[in-house]
Amino acid sequence: AVFTPQHRPLAGRTAIVTSGPTHEPIDPVRYIANRSSGKQGHAIAAALARLGAEVTLVSGPVALRDPDCVHVVHVERAEEMRDAVLAHLPADIAVMVAAVADWRVASSAEQKIKKQPGEGPPVLQLTENPDILATVGHHANRPRLVVGFAAETQNVSANGRAKLERKGADLIVANDVSPETGIMGGEKNSVRLISRQGEENWPELSKAEVAERLAEKIAAMLG
Ligand code: CTP
Ligand code: CA
Repeated sequence: AVFTPQHRPLAGRTAIVTSGPTHEPIDPVRYIANRSSGKQGHAIAAALARLGAEVTLVSGPVALRDPDCVHVVHVERAEEMRDAVLAHLPADIAVMVAAVADWRVASSAEQKIKKQPGEGPPVLQLTENPDILATVGHHANRPRLVVGFAAETQNVSANGRAKLERKGADLIVANDVSPETGIMGGEKNSVRLISRQGEENWPELSKAEVAERLAEKIAAMLG
């Protein structure tokens, strides 16, 4: 697509995008996290901004520079990410791309946990993190368009469809993240769009191209 100044179908719209992993502390020096480069989420934030949207990007720790023309909020933990997202409601569009850690350590240690010779490794008690997409999807101030991702290693369609319903999303961008696909951390993505209207398979595209197409799709869905 060519982005002329005239082609700004999202002008006047606000969008919230999450991207990257979250880091859940075990102690001051250790954490639990998902694999995520943030490339896809950051590209989506930039693509929405290019179409004229006023974008807030809530990003976990990533090794990427902040995209131009996007308001970026940097967070570490899932609870911080949830709070930052809710603080930016109401919005017209929510695209939750972050690979949020599903669990955090129930009570992280204030001091570095030291190895205890003879006592064996510490046992970590985990607790579930808030589901940010589901919170937004079922919120009283729900954005008009709520988009989620589904990272799957099998049964992409069925799992994606279940997430669409469970989380109250309008659209799920599902992808196969099996290690052999090379999607994790790579430049390419191969996605399937799942909505209540049906499914759509996109060819293998760069993450930037997926972002552009998705932004166009979002603009079309908002009308
Ligand atoms: N998500 C979220 N908050 C969480 C977990 C997931 O906002 N605590 C969002 C992700 O950003 C993504 C979607 O939910 O848009 C699906 O994430 P995924 O990890 O695939 O789904 P889960 O519901 O966590 O299920 P599972 O990991 O068990 O497959
Ligand atoms: Ca998960």
